[in-house]
Amino acid sequence: MWSIVKVPVFQILGFILLSSFLCSQALVRHYTFVVEDTPYTRLCSTKSILTVNGQFPGPTLYVNKGDTIIVDVYNKANYNITIHWHGVKQPRNPWSDGPEYITQCPIRSGERFSQKIILSDEEGTLWWHAHSDWSRATVHGAVVIYPNHNKGSGYPFPKPHADVPIIFSEWWKKDIVEVYNEFQRTGADPNISDAYTINGQPGHLYPCSQSDTYKLTVDQGKIYLLRLINVAVEDILLFAIANHQLTVVGTDSSYTKPFKTDYITISPGQTIDVLLETNQPPSHYYMAAKVYSSAEGVDFDNTTTTALLQYNIGNNSTTPPSNPPLPYLPFYNDTKASVNFTGKLRSLANEDHPIHVPVNISSKLIFTVSVNTLPCANDSCLGPNGSRLSASMNNISFSLPSTDILKAYYNNISGIYGNHFPSKPPLVFNFTAENLPTYLNTPKKGTEVRVVEYNSTVEIVLQGTNLLAGTDHPMHLHGYSFYVVGWGFGNFDEEKDPLGYNLVDPPLQNTIAVPKNGWAAIRFKANNPGVWFMHCHLDRHQTWGMDMAFIVKNGQGPDAQMLPPPSYMPPC
Ligand code: C2O
Ligand code: CU
Repeated sequence: MWSIVKVPVFQILGFILLSSFLCSQALVRHYTFVVEDTPYTRLCSTKSILTVNGQFPGPTLYVNKGDTIIVDVYNKANYNITIHWHGVKQPRNPWSDGPEYITQCPIRSGERFSQKIILSDEEGTLWWHAHSDWSRATVHGAVVIYPNHNKGSGYPFPKPHADVPIIFSEWWKKDIVEVYNEFQRTGADPNISDAYTINGQPGHLYPCSQSDTYKLTVDQGKIYLLRLINVAVEDILLFAIANHQLTVVGTDSSYTKPFKTDYITISPGQTIDVLLETNQPPSHYYMAAKVYSSAEGVDFDNTTTTALLQYNIGNNSTTPPSNPPLPYLPFYNDTKASVNFTGKLRSLANEDHPIHVPVNISSKLIFTVSVNTLPCANDSCLGPNGSRLSASMNNISFSLPSTDILKAYYNNISGIYGNHFPSKPPLVFNFTAENLPTYLNTPKKGTEVRVVEYNSTVEIVLQGTNLLAGTDHPMHLHGYSFYVVGWGFGNFDEEKDPLGYNLVDPPLQNTIAVPKNGWAAIRFKANNPGVWFMHCHLDRHQTWGMDMAFIVKNGQGPDAQMLPPPSYMPPC
């Protein structure tokens, strides 16, 4: 049985042992998740947070490529919850995907839901998180997917000496439920966080955090695989390690051509696998992360989280220098630095790791992603001019239905959603212009899906707009990974821009940050029938309605059909 509750130190030792034991056969693994309230102290104050098995961050799932995981989720908390397996495609099995009111109704207090997580070609790092309200602030954890060891180490790089999940998160002193409720009530931006964390710890630059700073102890002259995961609720982050270059080797559970870099940009939802060579004089070095925030006039958490990289000498740890060096990080609004990093990602695209980027497109879609406002009774909200902040895709601000879309679709229940999500923006204007007329700010509200045929080849151009404040939007699609074939600034040009697409080695991702006042083009083959959510992974934008869902129809033959629902789904 794999229902293990482990402490972090044991996790690090555990995976080294596990990885050598695991054979290459796909297995069914079992975990138990107990969602419960647990007291945690950070920044000199204690609060009760929602955790899985009492852990923050939550337990890491260790699996091999192609495994299936059964997770029994028990909700012992006082809140409704759902759990999502971010980046796991779940072929034909949307039933266990997790987004609240999209593929299931929430697991209520005292209830249990057994979820079946079907892995296929994912290899590297993914994660899991709550997908209801903002519970994911504390309900999250890593998914480590080892290669099948049929060829050498299975990695397309030398077998690392060890590998370590590095989880970036953010912490509010307030109860996250209060932050969420207040933001819903006022219609303004939410309170910014009080700290960022690395593996649950804020680090040396915050009050009361000195002794608990996360420490990674390493031997000199080795290669470590760091599995970076940004689980932050509201922020894209920049990360670096003092005096050390990093070699990027993967993102979103897909390998990339290796490249060296001094810093990385990582979106909420995204994972980046990097190799760290411990080739510096034995000492202590800081690793650090801070925000990348491009929206003008929007407040953000401007603090820096740190952890320590500590070299061993022989069997002894090195004595710390009084001031370990801090890494250099780009400026918080350095859009060039951000896209420069992301734009370097390339698939391996070789014999062992071929790519399958669709070339002939049957379904061409253009979706604008915008921040908007909605009128508020007596202008009493705290958004611009008394309005309520909102967000949209193709000018539809998504409202969650009260019964999940998947159930409505499967059982032909009408009146829950509409199937009129537009294939292109309903109104074409200069999306990225400096000053846009305010009448464009107001979206329509709706629960619309886009229906696509099984096996159709889909291209989506995600077009950012400068309504209210242009910013980067980390857009995430469930049920698929997609190839990012192009991106640029300004308005997408249907004639010229496709000529510059990378169809040779585009990266395969599940989350892509659409650059501020720019666009990104993604492609995938709709070979996974089901209901699949797409949304911005900044939770305020997601809550405001920067969401939509795809229904991918069943195809011919049993392998092209959705699996039947499990015997128990949480009732609505
Ligand atoms: Cu990280 Cu809709 O998910
Ligand atoms: Cu967004």
